[in-house]
Amino acid sequence: MRKSDKKVQPSNVNFSLVKTAEEIKLIERACRIVAETLGLLEKYVKPGVETIELDKIAEDYILSHDALPAFKGYRVENKEYPFTLCISIDDEVVHGLPGNRKLKEGEIVSLDCGVRKEGYYGDSAVTYPVGQINEEKERLLKVTQRALELGIEAAIDGNKVYDISRAIQTFVEANGFSVNRELVGHGIGKRLHEEPAIPNFVPPLLARRQYPNLKLLENMTLAIEPMVNAGEYKVKTKEDGWTVVTADGKPSAHFEHTIVVTKDKPIVLTYR
Ligand code: MF3
Ligand code: CO
Repeated sequence: MRKSDKKVQPSNVNFSLVKTAEEIKLIERACRIVAETLGLLEKYVKPGVETIELDKIAEDYILSHDALPAFKGYRVENKEYPFTLCISIDDEVVHGLPGNRKLKEGEIVSLDCGVRKEGYYGDSAVTYPVGQINEEKERLLKVTQRALELGIEAAIDGNKVYDISRAIQTFVEANGFSVNRELVGHGIGKRLHEEPAIPNFVPPLLARRQYPNLKLLENMTLAIEPMVNAGEYKVKTKEDGWTVVTADGKPSAHFEHTIVVTKDKPIVLTYR
């Protein structure tokens, strides 16, 4: 989710962010399709495949399971996202557009997939290696995936949003990488992007109003999504208006799960 997307809301909206058992069942169904789509795509991630082919495979799978691609037609700043997946290669951080580019040995490719089914959303992302990748990229994938796990472990009833942020940022920085400051995780349910925003960094004092540090409550559903750069955290958007790339050209990885907050161990709805 883009920073500019979210609206600050009073913290008494908390309770509407807590889902009923019925709603969680529906979110879980959307999440199953997301996870199956990303799992299916893994075997197509090979040198020579065009990214638009991956998008087509994902769209066909989702449509044939009575669901809709959540990103297609999604409006951000008056533009509609035109594809099923966001596909971001190497220095592309997120929101890369599928097209005729062919995957090459040694690249890393982030696949971000959202689904709407029966009025509820699921959202998940994974970064896959294309064939053999170098040591830095290997470590980047491991660290980002572990950062997601640590963020998820912090998402328990009674904790706050910044506990997730801190868990992610601390681990990533201890490993010499950096976390994105422009894009954040989010609540999810009847909408793809709900409150609370979940930054992957602890906001500096002056930015704290922008990211309310809400208390996490049992049965909130959250999309936690660390975006980790191998180099510096600065990013820019390409001329296509969508693709976010690292400013220094170094690689970036993205892992995301939709989870349910519980009293102890969170439930990962988009596990593969
Ligand atoms: N997982 C991304 C997010 O939460 C979804 C991309 S939004 C779209 O922001 F605009 F590309 F559809
Ligand atoms: Co998301």
